[in-house]
Amino acid sequence: MVMEALTGGARAVARCDLLGVAPYSDMEGGLYRGYLTPAYVAAQEALAGWMEGAGMTVRRDAAANLIGRYEGSIAGAPALLIGSHLDSVRDAGRYDGPLGIMLGVETVAALNESGRRMTFPIEVIAFGDEEGSRFPAAMLTSRAVAGTLEAEALELADGQGVALADAGVDVSNYLSAARAPGTTLAYLEAHIEQGPVLEAEGLAVGTVTGIAAQLRYQIIVRGMAGHAGTSSMTLRRDALAAAAEMILGIETVAQVDASDLVATVGKLEVLPGAANVIPGEVRFTIDIRSGDAARRDGAAGLILRALADIAARRGLDYAAELVHDLPASPCDPALMDIMDIATTVAGQPVRRLVSGAGHDAMVMAALCPTAMLFIRCGGGISHNPAETVDPADAEIALRVMLGFIDRLGGTFDDA
Ligand code: GLV
Ligand code: MN
Ligand code: MN
Repeated sequence: MVMEALTGGARAVARCDLLGVAPYSDMEGGLYRGYLTPAYVAAQEALAGWMEGAGMTVRRDAAANLIGRYEGSIAGAPALLIGSHLDSVRDAGRYDGPLGIMLGVETVAALNESGRRMTFPIEVIAFGDEEGSRFPAAMLTSRAVAGTLEAEALELADGQGVALADAGVDVSNYLSAARAPGTTLAYLEAHIEQGPVLEAEGLAVGTVTGIAAQLRYQIIVRGMAGHAGTSSMTLRRDALAAAAEMILGIETVAQVDASDLVATVGKLEVLPGAANVIPGEVRFTIDIRSGDAARRDGAAGLILRALADIAARRGLDYAAELVHDLPASPCDPALMDIMDIATTVAGQPVRRLVSGAGHDAMVMAALCPTAMLFIRCGGGISHNPAETVDPADAEIALRVMLGFIDRLGGTFDDA
């Protein structure tokens, strides 16, 4: 396939496909791109070339985000940031994150090809750690840019024990990635919907109204390891049997709530992890989300109490550490209106919808007004290698984004 022969939307999709395999993946036979891994560095190198080809100057900030800049016509004007994330979950789809970056590159490429500049600069930013799939914290690099990251949050090590400080960034300088307030006009993120609504309604794109609140905990349950053949059932302190009861309790709390509340145990480690040893320790994560922060917090309280009760009844030690608390993040109402108009001008029906998935936009909202455009994905499937997106939908998204930028310019010029 000759990339240059493709239209912008199709080229954005093709580039995501290209980044879906080695050397841009750290995983054999699938896609995993962790923050600061060899695959991450390789993907940044490819992206830097594409940014330069679209007429941008490229830099890597102190949090190892890659940023391409296309100057505006008014010196010193605040920049429109367009971005999403380059990292992925393990065994990922190809479009969760990279598609929003590639569409950002294509918006600039389209302006550059027609010799246009807006009054404001446009910066395309590829964030590095949205998923939290390598280090036990998510949205590190957008929090650094938004200026909401604390220095203590950088004391992290990955599953192999590699500290963030030894992974390819200077942690003593990391927080200098923060953008000064007032230097950013707005943040725009295009992303696959990761849900079924647009497909079910036959729509290519939707305007995001806001992002659900998230909580994440790391749980440790400690019992006693022992011989699987000689320890009678009554004397055991089996950490995995307790964790199994806890996980079902978590599921029940979310099911009984019967709202948009969701609770997930997505990662479980069993120690020592041998067929003939009673599990002595289990570590697992809990991810709790709702559009309503009070509902989310109420469910978290119920869950933590249930877990403590189960541990006490079984005579086990139990600890819960809060690793991540992101409030619900509404998108900017004026920018939603601009997105709706751009959607109409692109010949598409307007559909507003909320995001259950987290995005860098929810962090960037601390810095500037945010807007998000959702793009239909096949079967609503995401966080799965079966993720698909139709290049024709990406083309529509690109047209909407260009219309959004035009109208944002009008808004800014009139201000
Ligand atoms: C990111 O994909 C999240 O919603 O956790
Ligand atoms: Mn994701
Ligand atoms: Mn994503």
